[in-house]
Amino acid sequence: MRYLGNKTKLLERIYDAMEQRGINGNTFFDVFSGTASVAKFFKQKGYKVFSSDLLYLSYCLQRAYLTNNKEPEFKKLIPILTDCCMASLLESPMDKVLAYLNKCLPDREGFIYKNYSVGGTKDLKQPRMYLSDENAAKIDAIRQVIEEWYKNENLTEDEYYVLLACLLENVSLFTNVAGVYAAFQKKWDPRAIKPFILKPIELCIGNKAGKAFNKNSSDLLSEIEADIFYLDPPYNKRQYAPNYHLLETIVKYDNPEVHGITGMRDYSKQKSRFCHKESALAELENFAKNAKCNYLLLSYNNEGIMPQKDIMSILKKHGETELVEFNYARYKSNSKVKSTDNKKVKEQLYIVKLLRL
Ligand SMILES: C[S@@+](CC[C@H](N)C(=O)[O-])C[C@H]1O[C@@H](n2cnc3c(N)ncnc32)[C@H](O)[C@@H]1O
Repeated sequence: MRYLGNKTKLLERIYDAMEQRGINGNTFFDVFSGTASVAKFFKQKGYKVFSSDLLYLSYCLQRAYLTNNKEPEFKKLIPILTDCCMASLLESPMDKVLAYLNKCLPDREGFIYKNYSVGGTKDLKQPRMYLSDENAAKIDAIRQVIEEWYKNENLTEDEYYVLLACLLENVSLFTNVAGVYAAFQKKWDPRAIKPFILKPIELCIGNKAGKAFNKNSSDLLSEIEADIFYLDPPYNKRQYAPNYHLLETIVKYDNPEVHGITGMRDYSKQKSRFCHKESALAELENFAKNAKCNYLLLSYNNEGIMPQKDIMSILKKHGETELVEFNYARYKSNSKVKSTDNKKVKEQLYIVKLLRL
């Protein structure tokens, strides 16, 4: 998924840096999990993974990829689906369920249609152009049906989160935004006017199921013990919750009060202390001091709000610290930003071998 700070393209380099230093273990905590890309990678390397994030959308991805550890069978659901799409016997249970959701549901003009499509917001001074009318009503129909199935106990918890993750991953391919959801585009992007379709997601089946949390990770410090803690906090002042508010609302589907041009939901309880310099340094100190692990890895870059010298002085108090730097083209939500800007950015990995008395 397109997500600020997604580490998919850096994983091999992070792993190489660990291997070169003999850093390994059995348990891994992805402390700021986002898309869960890091935890998925380490689950596939055989680790038992823990993960957490303030955002519920991340929790849905974590549940689908980390906690869930098998292809869904939909044993209760499939017998009650009408065969409107003439699913073939050869299709997997997942394909059958997605075919049903794609082809057999009448559109519903629900919360997403009413707040994020042009048709639903036509009375506003500036109608919201996040989704086409048809796609918004289709997303409402799919989201409501997933909830009905779950409430009626026709889905297991794992199946529920697999379907929500599938919806999330696909919605992000049909929204009229330039990367993040803090604004919609004023002209239709060709991607947003294609008819919405759910495609299956690639699950992550490993030796060990993971454990997912939707919490402020500092509240988990006393609870989780792991060989490696991987910290990938926000690098700057941009809070994640407002930048992904539409995806958060689609998965929560809790009819929040929304306001402003973009239809923002309240995110006062999802603010990260890593988005302000002073509180970020204090939080880092808290992790370095209290993390129950052997190694603490911190991803950051040379333009982040915590200065390198301050990070170093905090980490060095708690263990042997090394800084590894990678050249890396940073994620841009605005594709018009000149690519030459990317050259100056260094992605950093602080590696701390903790000294615990
Ligand atoms: C740089 S992103 C992580 C990206 C992730 N590694 C990936 O590859 O997708 C930072 C994440 O930290 C989360 N976050 C910020 N502060 C947090 C906190 N105190 N506890 C839990 N999650 C937090 C944000 O919601 C965001 O998803």
